[in-house]
Amino acid sequence: MAMNEYDEYLRTEWESFSGDSTRSGKTLAEISDLDVARVLDVGCGAGQELLPFVNDPCTLVGVDVAPTVGVVGRQVFAHMRNTPVIFVRAAAEALPFTADCFDVVICRLSLPYTHNAKALAEMARVTRPEGILLLKIHHLRFYLDKFWKGLRAGDYLSMIHASRVMVAGALYHCLGTQIRVQLISSETFLSEWLLRRELTKLGLTIRRETPDSNPLTPSFNIVKERCRYLI
Ligand SMILES: C[S@@+](CC[C@H](N)C(=O)[O-])C[C@H]1O[C@@H](n2cnc3c(N)ncnc32)[C@H](O)[C@@H]1O
Repeated sequence: MAMNEYDEYLRTEWESFSGDSTRSGKTLAEISDLDVARVLDVGCGAGQELLPFVNDPCTLVGVDVAPTVGVVGRQVFAHMRNTPVIFVRAAAEALPFTADCFDVVICRLSLPYTHNAKALAEMARVTRPEGILLLKIHHLRFYLDKFWKGLRAGDYLSMIHASRVMVAGALYHCLGTQIRVQLISSETFLSEWLLRRELTKLGLTIRRETPDSNPLTPSFNIVKERCRYLI
């Protein structure tokens, strides 16, 4: 994605979140049983998913691998005098935080671009026991939809992109591990079945689908077990 296109995408996502008065409430409802002091958004883009927390005395951190991390985010948060957001450039696969330090970790539509197992392991590591991970993924249906839309519009690049991701995702599901070599797309889809398998290894459990879930991009409320070695 070109830089201008990326910035435009981030601003659109910000406007869509901040223009919808119900979105903050929906996020807060997902974590209503939790005392929240630290929130992390992984692959944060503009960081709009942190908006529900700006009026609380929380530490809010957005990480993204993009070289321009925080450029749009700092502009859109600038008019808010409440809790500031700290933007950090880092990869989801190597989060620069100590273990168990966040009460809530959010990852919205960023997992498809990562090494899924490594990124989920990092999110599990930095989430405190009984903390919550709010995760939104790309299902196979997302790329099928992209393929058909591309076909109807004669957009062959879009079709090729969707096809490559579907091949990468199919291999991930068959082999149980993501193949990240040049010929194969590093982007992948994820099914709930494979997600559950990855999460179980990490002591994470899906509690429920969240209200913003849809067939193309399912969303999950996931809890980290208190102590996975407790018998
Ligand atoms: C589709 S955007 C979603 C942005 C934001 N979460 C939202 O909902 O608007 C995907 C984001 O993931 C980031 N990203 C891609 N690979 C990443 C990685 N390995 N580690 C951290 N962020 C990554 C991209 O830079 C981009 O900002």
